[in-house]
Amino acid sequence: MAVSARPIAPAASLSTRSAPVVRIQVTVNGSPISAEVEPRTLLVHFLREVVGLTGTHIGCDTSHCGACTVHLDGKPVKSCTVLAVQANGRQVRTVEGLEVDGKLSAVQEAFVEAHGLQCGFCTPGMMMTATALLARNPNPTEPEVRDAIRGNLCRCTGYVNIVKAIQLAGKKMQANPTGPGGSP
Ligand code: FES
Ligand code: FES
Repeated sequence: MAVSARPIAPAASLSTRSAPVVRIQVTVNGSPISAEVEPRTLLVHFLREVVGLTGTHIGCDTSHCGACTVHLDGKPVKSCTVLAVQANGRQVRTVEGLEVDGKLSAVQEAFVEAHGLQCGFCTPGMMMTATALLARNPNPTEPEVRDAIRGNLCRCTGYVNIVKAIQLAGKKMQANPTGPGGSP
């Protein structure tokens, strides 16, 4: 899988002085990251506060919204429900890893072209879920798209253009299967 290997902010530590820490090594968007974290640190906090990738959003504290969706070893997960230590030795891909060398992925292009966003808060999670869906089903029906994104909430769009964007992205990926961001 080709992912962006652009420089990432230097690893820092989320540890507090008295708390026990563990060192983890995670490959994020193709770049190895080594950091000390508390065992309780959530993957979403590791990505945002240690790695510095703030495209992964936090929209709730109840595991409902899906704004925090990333790929862990190619599978979409809600990163607020995963501990950073559970990602040790594994591959994580965030929304920042969808584009390659400045070229947007088909999913990113399609969200722009089909107006699949309004405020954009849900969009990173939607795009990660969509990318995973299209990798296993490049030509999903509307019900299949709606089923795939049932764990991703949008407060703005009514979902109509999100569904259209995901189906458009599928067509783009079939037309250019080697384009960026095509596989989770
Ligand atoms: S932040 Fe809402 S599901 Fe993770
Ligand atoms: S575009 Fe605003 S929450 Fe989805």
